[in-house]
Amino acid sequence: MQLDLPHTDHGPRDAPALILLHGFPLDHAMWGPVERALVASGLRVLAPDLRGFGKAPSASGVGSVSAHAGDVLRLADRAGLRRFVLVGFSFGGYVALEVARQSPGRLLGLVLVDTRMEPDSEEARKGRAATIAKVRETGVGTLVDAMLSKMISEPAQHPEVEAMMRRQGAEGMVHALEAMAARPDSTPTLRALDAPVLVVVGEHDPITPPDAARAMAASAKRATLVVVPGLHLTPVASPDDVAQAIVAWMPPR
Ligand code: MLT
Repeated sequence: MQLDLPHTDHGPRDAPALILLHGFPLDHAMWGPVERALVASGLRVLAPDLRGFGKAPSASGVGSVSAHAGDVLRLADRAGLRRFVLVGFSFGGYVALEVARQSPGRLLGLVLVDTRMEPDSEEARKGRAATIAKVRETGVGTLVDAMLSKMISEPAQHPEVEAMMRRQGAEGMVHALEAMAARPDSTPTLRALDAPVLVVVGEHDPITPPDAARAMAASAKRATLVVVPGLHLTPVASPDDVAQAIVAWMPPR
């Protein structure tokens, strides 16, 4: 079942449109500074909360990137967007790649920020299962403690990041962990995609490192790779660099 995702929608209705997909365990607010810079450049920008995060309801059943992708396509339909640029950060990148697999013709371009195309290894899947058990048992705190220092180098300077992580509900997190563990290999999707691709990565990203970004850029037919300062959460650490990379790359309609 597809959900109607709550979302922000700024900029001129007739401008080229971008949909920004947030990471885990975050919500649309992570895009605030990037969103403002893109809108200031004359673009239309939509930023949803993915199911189970922010103000979006959770759905029953096991989480899957396919369900998230269906929600994103429904959002595009409701907003009247026939073609759009899809921007996915990390978990949002996994969802964006699934949209590219399901409906490549809808994409004017694809922006993959601090993410990877490969599926989880067996070891990573076991880690996700252990994390699911921990979140169910003790809530979201342990996960946030473990992730925060990998997200951003000076977390104290960005208290909004920790607050955003801690306000996400356990149910949505479990669904997203299930979806990430079960996601397919997106290498064939990226190889087959005709739309231009922009890959952005933090130079010291410990979660989805520059090598993973280089592999994506090498797989896509028409790719641009931009390395920006920062760890994983570059849209918060280096929002101007990320926005500039997108504006400079934007494909014509
Ligand atoms: C994210 O930042 O969205 C997640 O950490 C990605 C992942 O766990 O694979």
